[in-house]
Amino acid sequence: MKNSTVIYPGSFDPITYGHLDIIKRAAAMFDKLIVVVMTNSKKSCSFTPEERREMILKSVKDLPNVEVDFYDGLLAEYAKIKNASAIIKGLRAMSDFEYEFQMALTNKKLNPEVETLFLTTSTQYMYLSSSMVKQIVSMNGDISDFVPKEIHEDIVERLGGQG
Ligand code: PNS
Repeated sequence: MKNSTVIYPGSFDPITYGHLDIIKRAAAMFDKLIVVVMTNSKKSCSFTPEERREMILKSVKDLPNVEVDFYDGLLAEYAKIKNASAIIKGLRAMSDFEYEFQMALTNKKLNPEVETLFLTTSTQYMYLSSSMVKQIVSMNGDISDFVPKEIHEDIVERLGGQG
């Protein structure tokens, strides 16, 4: 890709090993990857945007070409501001597809310059989601296989035993 700044948007409430897997694979393919915390109007979040950004920063500290940001606006606009050539999305299962396809077409309409690229989630993370992590920790379950160790305590402190 000519300009290989790409962006990986999401709510990341919180970041999981599934997200980190996509981040590592995309960072290996492009010059620069910007992970951007965004607002999903369909979700209510447990962590503030700043907390989510901090947790991502801790999780990607060993990846030199990865930046972390927060943007409270349209993804298509953000891609324009950053002159990004592509939006990276992780695709878990067919259940993700329809919604992701709709978003990709909408973003293309809003910003024809930007492509959406889908990476298939690694099989060991097919089932993993932030909401599942929150549910497990709220019932005092072990989430160490699901979230980066750097943020494990942050999540347990905030949400542990609230179920
Ligand atoms: O991790 P999520 O919640 O599946 O990520 C969805 C997200 C945040 C990428 C999406 O809701 C989004 O792009 N929000 C920004 C606002 C926007 O551009 N909405 C129109 C998308 S078609």
